[in-house]
Amino acid sequence: MSYLVNPLRDPAWRPESGLEAQARELHESLPGYAPTPLHDLPSLAAELGLGRVLLKDESSRFGLPAFKALGAFWAAHWALAGRDPATLTLAAATEGNHGRAVARAAKLLGARAHIVIPAHTSPARAAAIAQEGAHVERIDGGYEDAVAHAARLAAGDVLVISDTSWPGYEEIPARVVEGYATMFAEIDVPVDLVVVPIGVGSLAAAAARHFRAGPGDGPFLLGLEPADAACALESARSGRLTTVPGPMRSTMAGLNCAEPSPAAWPLLAAAYDAFCAIDDAHVDWGMRRLASEGLDRGATSGGVVGGLRAHRASLPLPEDATALLILTEGVTDPAVFQAAVGRPHRTV
Ligand SMILES: Cc1ncc(COP(=O)(O)O)c(C=O)c1O
Repeated sequence: MSYLVNPLRDPAWRPESGLEAQARELHESLPGYAPTPLHDLPSLAAELGLGRVLLKDESSRFGLPAFKALGAFWAAHWALAGRDPATLTLAAATEGNHGRAVARAAKLLGARAHIVIPAHTSPARAAAIAQEGAHVERIDGGYEDAVAHAARLAAGDVLVISDTSWPGYEEIPARVVEGYATMFAEIDVPVDLVVVPIGVGSLAAAAARHFRAGPGDGPFLLGLEPADAACALESARSGRLTTVPGPMRSTMAGLNCAEPSPAAWPLLAAAYDAFCAIDDAHVDWGMRRLASEGLDRGATSGGVVGGLRAHRASLPLPEDATALLILTEGVTDPAVFQAAVGRPHRTV
């Protein structure tokens, strides 16, 4: 369990303008759009020595159990503009949630989807992607191998919709980050702390762009990772983009990434106040704590709750501070929920 005050933080950093407003306009025009709930948990706030704990609950976004559709829909819409979707395939690598969202985007737009998953992706996650009508290809390798494999699929009729970037491939990941902005734009309460889970860092980049856009310091931004996939924390520690060795086995599957997206990393370096890492015991505690409030949610959502509890003492925040936690997923893997909470999850 580690906590690192970000030595690279630049208080003068401000984001460049992007297409967030257009992304939000698209989202609001789509069937099934609704702002996701913001729960207020006074008992958790009291327990953690905070004034308020607010949970932005992305467990149902456009009918999918994670926030990822916000990025995938806008990126896919932008990539397909002016082209005939019936002739096109959208390809992506995923630990589960992004690929499912790309598959849904392809279905909605009338294109095909080819989703590449690492060897260890759970059967439940693979089945959920296939149910969207995608061709699912399981490769013999980890997440980074899946990203490389999906990148090689790019062709005239195959568009890669990746949420991570690589040299020469930055436009689509930038659209993904813009898409995530809709989540933050829906929150109209001032907050002092934001806890954001980090996989490749595109969601964290969206939070950086949103919360550092205005005048003043903005809230304390805390990035959270699994202990064996703490690539942002290690990058901050070493002062440059760093790849961690793994193996990465956290139940927070979407966070099992060996390196930050090169396009996201400079934003995280400039905008985040601290990075922290937790092991799965804290994830399980968070899932149980949420379940005790009637919120049956997935591992990454449990992780931000457990992570805040684990690192509360390190945070320079008064007892009346308002914390915003991003619950990025519902129960995307029922077996993981059952193992942590001791009962099957209830669907609401
Ligand atoms: C549920 C969930 N939360 C958070 C993240 C992290 O997002 P990013 O990879 O943009 O850092 C992911 C990524 O897959 C995810 O699936």
